[in-house]
Parts: sequence; structure tokens; C-alpha cells
Amino acid sequence: MHYNLALIGFGNVARSLAKLLIRKRDLLKAKHDVTFSFTGISTGRHGFAVNPNGLDIEKALELVESGKDIFPLSTFNVQDSLSVIQHSQANIMFENSPVNTQTGQPALDHIRAALNLGMHAITANKGPVVHGYRELTKLAESKGKKFRFESTVLGGAPTFSVMREAFPLAELESFKGIFNATTNIILSRMENEESYEEAVKYCQSIGVAETDPTNDVDGWDAAIKVCALVTVLWDTSLTPQEIKPIGIRGITPEMIAKAKSENKRYKLVCSAEKVNGKIIASVSPQLVDSTSPLFGMMNSSTGVTFRTDVILDYSIALSEKPGLQGGPVETAYGLFADFVNIVKQ
Ligand SMILES: NC(=O)c1ccc[n+]([C@@H]2O[C@H](COP(=O)([O-])OP(=O)(O)OC[C@H]3O[C@@H](n4cnc5c(N)ncnc54)[C@H](OP(=O)(O)O)[C@@H]3O)[C@@H](O)[C@H]2O)c1
Repeated sequence: MHYNLALIGFGNVARSLAKLLIRKRDLLKAKHDVTFSFTGISTGRHGFAVNPNGLDIEKALELVESGKDIFPLSTFNVQDSLSVIQHSQANIMFENSPVNTQTGQPALDHIRAALNLGMHAITANKGPVVHGYRELTKLAESKGKKFRFESTVLGGAPTFSVMREAFPLAELESFKGIFNATTNIILSRMENEESYEEAVKYCQSIGVAETDPTNDVDGWDAAIKVCALVTVLWDTSLTPQEIKPIGIRGITPEMIAKAKSENKRYKLVCSAEKVNGKIIASVSPQLVDSTSPLFGMMNSSTGVTFRTDVILDYSIALSEKPGLQGGPVETAYGLFADFVNIVKQ
């Protein structure tokens, strides 16, 4: 079967996805008899392109990576993402525009439009999951299509699919983890006597923290990931504002040194628990000791432990890696895995 693909957002993640799909092209054909072409691409500042017969993806990558516009590749005069979706004749739309934690827009509208046109929708963007999970899932079901978002939490490590497929009818009681690599790197480096400011600069220099690191250090990125898990796994909507995350700015070198002398360390702990039918969720720096699975997660390592009524503690951990753990390649793999799991059905 041949699939037309639309890429809404063509940044680090979507370009990594395109390269991964190109790399796995022969394997997809051999194992699942699946072929694909890219028929629509949409960006913020690098233009829009549609060709239902297939865009030159190598050229699109080259153009965007050299700061140029992709419009010359287009056979349609498209000026916005919704027109790209509409004219692309895609079977699958990948939504990877920047996250909007407050409203989930414009990604919500992109996914609604794609599902309404009979496409599957796959995203690494947490916004539409937190702000539209129930609606988009219902819409997808009504169209006989899928809405998938494996990469939104823990990069490309299977999290939602594990809970959905490997734990049928298990009741989730709680989860606890480290979801934000930047703050974990900062806290790890502060243990080695680097100042908070130096550690933030380091994260910016390797590309894991943005120029304004607020989203990470004040706990908002971690909080929206907690919300995505709560929203999907308990089918209960929760917004980052309701969590009121506490970030790591208040952790001083003195606190870190004292913790170290007691063989403990600070981690930005993300947790949620169902108590008498109510969800209690939090993001805050906490002291953990060596009995905690979070204790050994250093630098860019992230992970989560789920507690269910049947299997007590089930952990997923991404080990620390030099460079960008949970970065675009891993995230792109989560999108790719969603794609393969949809098309092989
Ligand atoms: N990076 C990661 O490791 C990671 C991990 C998990 C989840 N995610 C999520 O994945 C998504 C993409 O991340 P990224 O790292 O690829 O970001 P990025 O490099 O900033 O790319 C964002 C892309 O979206 C485009 N864009 C901006 N506004 C748009 C709009 N209104 N409509 C359509 N496209 C628009 C940008 O175009 P221009 O560049 O031309 O402005 C760019 O192509 C985000 O939602 C992010 O939270 C990322």
C-alpha cells in the first residue's frame, strides 16, 4: 500500500523523521509492503509546499537546512498549514509545530482538519493531547482513523502503547518519574559543584535548553508531560496550570551539598496518583535516596515507574547518552513507530 504523507511543521523533529523514513524505506517495503511519498510540507518561516504526486524531500531538507523557502517545490499556491493539509491528498498527517501549553493551538486545528479529511494524525506535540485528547480520539474513531502521540512523553520510548497494549484492563494507581532532561542535567552538574548559571549555559550550548530556559527550569515542560499521561491514561483532563509546577530555581549549592553528604540527591520529580477517584499530580524538586529508581538517573537520563493493581512497579528508563538524549532522533523514532503500527494493521 502506498501512503501520502503531510508534514505540518518541518523543524528538528520532522526533518529527523523524514530522514529516518528515507533510511527505513527498503525495510518498510520488504516487511510490510508499504511505500510512501511526501505530498505536503508546512513551516512557520520557510514557506509551504504541496505536490500530490510527491515532493522532492531531499531538496526540501536542503532548502530548509540552508534557510531557504520550500515554495519553489510546490505545484499549488498554498499559503497556510490548513491549505497544505487540504490539498496534500495525504493519508497520514504528522503534526510537529511548536507546542502551545495554554491552548494547544494551532496544532489542534491542524489535527481536526486532517482527521475530518480522513487522514490518520500523528504528533510529538503535547498541546493537542492535553487540550484535545478526548475530542480528537472520538473524531478519529468516527472516521475509522487513528490519533497517535507516542513521542510526546519520554522522547521515542514506548510509554502510551505499553500501557495501552501490554496492560489490558490493568488499573493504573500511580506513576512517578523524571520527564525533563534539561533540569536533570542541571541538577547533576550542580552535584559536581558547577553553579546553576553555568549548568544552564552548558544546556544551552548543547542545544537542550532554549535561550529562555523558563519552560524547563520552572517545571512547565515536565508539567505538560504529566498532564498528557493523566489525560490519556486516566481519561481525565488536567492542565499544567492546575498542577502549579515548582521548578528548580530554588535549589541552592548548599542544599545540593547537604543532600550529597546524606547520600541523597535532588530530582525534579513528576508524579500522579489516583486517590478515591481523584487525581493528585505534582511537579517539584524532591530529595531522593538510593532506594529510589530515580536516584541513578543522572544527566540526560529520564524515566517513569507505573504502579498498577496487577503489576506493582513497571519502569521505563532511557539511559544517559552523551549529547542530546531524548532529542530529535529519538522523538522522530516515536513518530515513526506510530506510523509503522498504523500501517501494518
Ligand atoms: N525536539 C525534541 O526533542 C522534542 C521532543 C518531544 C516533543 N517535541 C515536540 O515536537 C514539536 C516539534 O519540535 P521541534 O524540536 O521540531 O521544533 P522546531 O525545530 O522549532 O520546529 C518547529 C517547526 O514548526 C514550524 N512552525 C512554526 N509555526 C508553525 C505553524 N503555525 N504551522 C506550521 N508549522 C509551524 C517551524 O517553521 P520555521 O522553522 O520555518 O519557523 C518548524 O518547521 C514540538 O511540539 C515539540 O514540543 C520535540
